[in-house]
Amino acid sequence: MIAYLWILVACSSDGGSRALPELPPLPEPVDAAAVVLGPERPLREAIVALTGAVRGEVEVCGCPTTPYGGFARRAALFDRLREAPVPLFSVDAGEMLVKGMTGRDELDRRVRAEAVVGLAEGTGLDAWAASPIDLTPGGLALLARHGALAANWGGSAGLLPVRVVERDGVRLGFVGLAAADESHPAGNAVEAVLAAMTESVDAWFVLSNADLATNLLVAEGVPGLGAVLATEGDRHDPPITTRGAPIVEAPGRGRYVTLIHLSLATDHRQLELVTSGIWRDIAVTRYRRELDAIEPEVREAESKADHRRLVRRTAGRAVAYVEDIPLSADLDGATNVDSQLERFREAILGAARLSAVAVDQGGYATASSCSGCHRDRIASWGFDAHAHALESLITSKKADNPECVACHTTGFGQAGGFAAVEDKAIGAFRDVQCEACHGPMKGHTGRTGARSRPVTEATCRGCHDEANSPKFDYSTYLAKISCSRLAAPDDVAP
Ligand code: HEC
Ligand code: HEC
Ligand code: HEC
Ligand code: HEC
Repeated sequence: MIAYLWILVACSSDGGSRALPELPPLPEPVDAAAVVLGPERPLREAIVALTGAVRGEVEVCGCPTTPYGGFARRAALFDRLREAPVPLFSVDAGEMLVKGMTGRDELDRRVRAEAVVGLAEGTGLDAWAASPIDLTPGGLALLARHGALAANWGGSAGLLPVRVVERDGVRLGFVGLAAADESHPAGNAVEAVLAAMTESVDAWFVLSNADLATNLLVAEGVPGLGAVLATEGDRHDPPITTRGAPIVEAPGRGRYVTLIHLSLATDHRQLELVTSGIWRDIAVTRYRRELDAIEPEVREAESKADHRRLVRRTAGRAVAYVEDIPLSADLDGATNVDSQLERFREAILGAARLSAVAVDQGGYATASSCSGCHRDRIASWGFDAHAHALESLITSKKADNPECVACHTTGFGQAGGFAAVEDKAIGAFRDVQCEACHGPMKGHTGRTGARSRPVTEATCRGCHDEANSPKFDYSTYLAKISCSRLAAPDDVAP
């Protein structure tokens, strides 16, 4: 329960009544009698911090149920972890750069991709896997320049298969396994990984955004592999024990960081996942203690005692304890990536500005100009949540954050829309107005001029995405909006 306790503690300080995040159940404990011991080596400890499918999420999620995440909090967590007497390795399984539905155009995506990889490096990223969805913005060149790994893409334009990182005497090897796309067929994943594992390291990991079937083949087919560290795919699974190495999935969107506490007392081999008992307590208290304000001497003595306890219990084994840490408000505060974040926000605004001036269909007329003819619709819309969307941002003090403004206003960064986050500029574009759904309609006067674009499920999902509206169900939500309830032809004044 220690893992959940941490989460409770993390939550209680920022709101009290907030619902607990839904985390996967813990895996089955390993049957100690069934474990084959390896040749004994001195104990080496490390923490691998895993993210995956971050998908361009830079800020804390505005999500109603899990308001976690963001690079600032990630940086703060890593800073704390680096105080512990155990080296930290930071890795990402891929799908890091490109944002889903709100990545509106090429420019926005490129700006975001470059900022995200820069921020990840700012927090100390050691290795990351290439993935097809990250190819869109700067193409392969951006990935290659920042050292993305892909063992199975056959040396595509300078991508490397593997990276070995040594820190405080611990050597870990990371092999990239990228999902396939048209120009990069899957190849033989097992062979590609085996071919990459040439050096001598304390443990090998595969960073994978390939599908579960491929991950299973690799986990069971590559002898001596420590673990497959993967993106979550269609849904988030708890750590999976296989006939070979375990598979650990990172929760998506950067809202959590998965910590894998390693205690390695043998040559490189498959990791045993431990879920309970003293190993976990020892591994976890070793860095948690850093968060409590206790005397440094006491801390050091306790830490050494823990190490001795671990040594006694890990002879000949390679064990790992896995926990998901929510990036909650506990971690708020100044960090070393603050100036990078500031530059990111400016860059996003810059990209929005360029798009907004390109006027398309005459641009946005805003809701006040619809009221003359569609009185009933305006009146009923006023009672919808959409009409108060900016208020929610003002309440959470995020009305000046371009990442949030995009979905809580109308026409942000769109051709003929607006692109500044000062009160004055937002003014007429505040809230989710008519044209957020119907599209820009300046010049529309009934039978002539601009027409509504079709309003479909995709229109809603542009904002009601998996992160910000996890309960979204099209027909339920559609029934709740006033506009769809008014029969057409409606209120139009002659
Ligand atoms: C421009 C972004 C955007 C679009 C497009 C959008 N929404 Fe929303 N929607 C929001 C935001 C933001 C909120 C939350 C408003 C608040 O309370 O601050 C919201 C809230 C809602 C709510 C209220 C939820 C609740 O539990 O009270 C419903 C229902 C809803 N939207 C339905 C829809 C439907 C149906 C569509 C498509 C036809 C749609 N929305 C399109 C941004 C959008
Ligand atoms: C991709 C679009 C999107 C982005 C980006 C976004 N939101 Fe939202 N937000 C929504 C939608 C949609 C809802 C309504 C969710 C629902 O009820 O299903 C919502 C709801 C909310 C609510 C809850 C309103 C209520 O009282 O129920 C708050 C608060 C909020 N968002 C704040 C933020 C903040 C802060 C940010 C920036 C960090 C942000 N949002 C970014 C789409 C977005
Ligand atoms: C959350 C998205 C959303 C918002 C905001 C919204 N509408 Fe709609 N509107 C819809 C949907 C969905 C329909 C019904 C779908 C359809 O029949 O095409 C619709 C239908 C209409 C129709 C009838 C269309 C027809 O073909 O007869 C009119 C007129 C209209 N809306 C005007 C407005 C005005 C004016 C506003 C602002 C006050 C507004 N809408 C705000 C989603 C929205
Ligand atoms: C000068 C009066 C007038 C104003 C102003 C006006 N409309 Fe309309 N609108 C009409 C009339 C008349 C119709 C019905 C004609 C038709 O269905 O072809 C209509 C139809 C529509 C429709 C359904 C037809 C379509 O294009 O799909 C939508 C949606 C709509 N209006 C949205 C808006 C929005 C949003 C605004 C504000 C930006 C707005 N209207 C401003 C007169 C107006």
